[in-house]
Amino acid sequence: MPAGRRARAARSPSQGGDVALRVAVIGSGPAGIYTAEALVKQSSEPVEIDVLERLPTPYGLVRYGVAPDHTSIKSIAGYLRRVLELPQVRFLGGVTLGADVSVSDLLSAYDAVVYATGAMVDRRLGIPGEDLPGSVAATDFVNWYCGHPDVDAGRFSLDSSEVAVIGVGNVAVDVVRILAKTAAELSATDVPHEVLERLRASQVKAIHMIGRRGPEHAKFTLKELRELGELANADVCVRPEEAVVLGGDYPRQVRGNIEVLRSWSERVPQGRPRRLDVRFWLRPVEILGGDRVEGLRLERTRLTPEGRVQGTGEFETLPVGMVLRSVGYQSVPLADVPFSMETMTVPNEAGRVREREYVAGWLKRGPTGVIGTNKSDAAETVRTLLADLAGREHELKTDLDTLLAERGVRPVTYEEWLAIEAAEADLGGALGRGERVKLPGLEAMLRACRP
Ligand SMILES: Cc1cc2nc3c(=O)[nH]c(=O)nc-3n(C[C@H](O)[C@H](O)[C@H](O)COP(=O)(O)OP(=O)(O)OC[C@H]3O[C@@H](n4cnc5c(N)ncnc54)[C@H](O)[C@@H]3O)c2cc1C
Ligand SMILES: NC(=O)c1ccc[n+]([C@@H]2O[C@H](COP(=O)([O-])OP(=O)(O)OC[C@H]3O[C@@H](n4cnc5c(N)ncnc54)[C@H](OP(=O)(O)O)[C@@H]3O)[C@@H](O)[C@H]2O)c1
Repeated sequence: MPAGRRARAARSPSQGGDVALRVAVIGSGPAGIYTAEALVKQSSEPVEIDVLERLPTPYGLVRYGVAPDHTSIKSIAGYLRRVLELPQVRFLGGVTLGADVSVSDLLSAYDAVVYATGAMVDRRLGIPGEDLPGSVAATDFVNWYCGHPDVDAGRFSLDSSEVAVIGVGNVAVDVVRILAKTAAELSATDVPHEVLERLRASQVKAIHMIGRRGPEHAKFTLKELRELGELANADVCVRPEEAVVLGGDYPRQVRGNIEVLRSWSERVPQGRPRRLDVRFWLRPVEILGGDRVEGLRLERTRLTPEGRVQGTGEFETLPVGMVLRSVGYQSVPLADVPFSMETMTVPNEAGRVREREYVAGWLKRGPTGVIGTNKSDAAETVRTLLADLAGREHELKTDLDTLLAERGVRPVTYEEWLAIEAAEADLGGALGRGERVKLPGLEAMLRACRP
């Protein structure tokens, strides 16, 4: 059994001198786990790291964001697992900062705290109709198909024949791909079984992906874009007039995107069951409907000389029954932790927030960047932390395990998480689907690890 799975002996308060540096990392996404790894690797003195996570499961968006059909990217979880199994690292699932523990609890139990809680809510469009039933944040839709316990597997039915996806970033590309693929293509993935059945019953025929600027400004990356052109179940269409890009000195990725989109504008539809229209220079101005979404009103755009998006007064309406808003994620403030409502991040200097408090990942720098970006980001935070705490006397007053027990909070241990994983593998086998299928909801997960 890896040493990281052991229960750690409580350290009595006010121990000093030769004891390990104790750090609490809040959040077990890539940023939190890379932080734990960097602490182990960079520290010249012994360290003990507790990774506190509100869910019973580790890996953050690697588990509940990365698209289920991107299995090679998901396999990064194998690397993160090895960090959780280091003898200096302990996983405590089902513990929420702000509900089960406070910042002051943590500061009296650890030498330092690193916040790495990511960005879990959607950015708003701020247009009329945004809250109509059928107008859905990509955060919720992604959570749904990824089996996040915050979203019920029965939450969405794909009963509209036309759907609009607003935004041309990589999350929008993921959402479009999941809508366009058949249930058979997704059967071997880990999507919860009820979600798969709802995808099987999907009535979606046309998907409109909407960019408010041009192909040269799209945020998706070339590899992810190309995948849309290889969909077996959907024809991909781009209007030639929207694929036109004026000359400019664009980076290689952008040149690649422009070329792919231009080549799609010359494609002849092959009569596939679904159709993806990738549109540019259109901004959403209103989501239409009475009791639910019945259409999306768009305005053609251009850029001002300063580069701002400006409406031209020319409108068009798409007859969609669902609007998926994929315009970015954002962080939420943590109780008693500084937060800038302007940048929607925790203000910091090279990761330092205040004395003994640090931040890493999307909460530190905003919701951009791939998984690997969080590694160098976490390394910077850890360098700051170790420099600040060098030679520090340890004067801790509280033992977190005792405190949690007093509050009736029983953390999900690493072994219990492994039991959840094993139950997911059993379910995948029993359903004849694949390596694993996610269990539906928190209760099912807890039943699997605490029979
Ligand atoms: C839909 C989507 C798909 C993506 N796909 C890819 C991809 O294919 N490839 C790629 O390289 N990058 C991808 N990314 C980007 C990548 O996922 C992020 O860069 C990365 O996950 C950010 O790491 P993080 O640790 O800061 O946040 P997260 O991964 O969000 O981790 C934060 C963790 O903190 C926990 N938490 C939150 N609040 C609390 C609290 N109060 N107390 C305790 N715990 C808490 C959360 O449950 C979560 O586990 C994707 C992002 C999204 C949104
Ligand atoms: N496979 C992968 O590697 C992968 C997969 C998923 C996510 N990720 C990463 O995760 C991060 C987040 O991705 P994301 O797609 O959520 O965000 P993103 O890359 O920032 O894209 C957001 C999109 O929404 C648009 N948008 C924002 N506000 C809008 C508004 N009011 N009206 C219309 N459109 C609006 C943006 O257009 P403007 O540019 O005009 O603002 C942009 O096209 C990115 O770094 C991404 O690369 C990676």
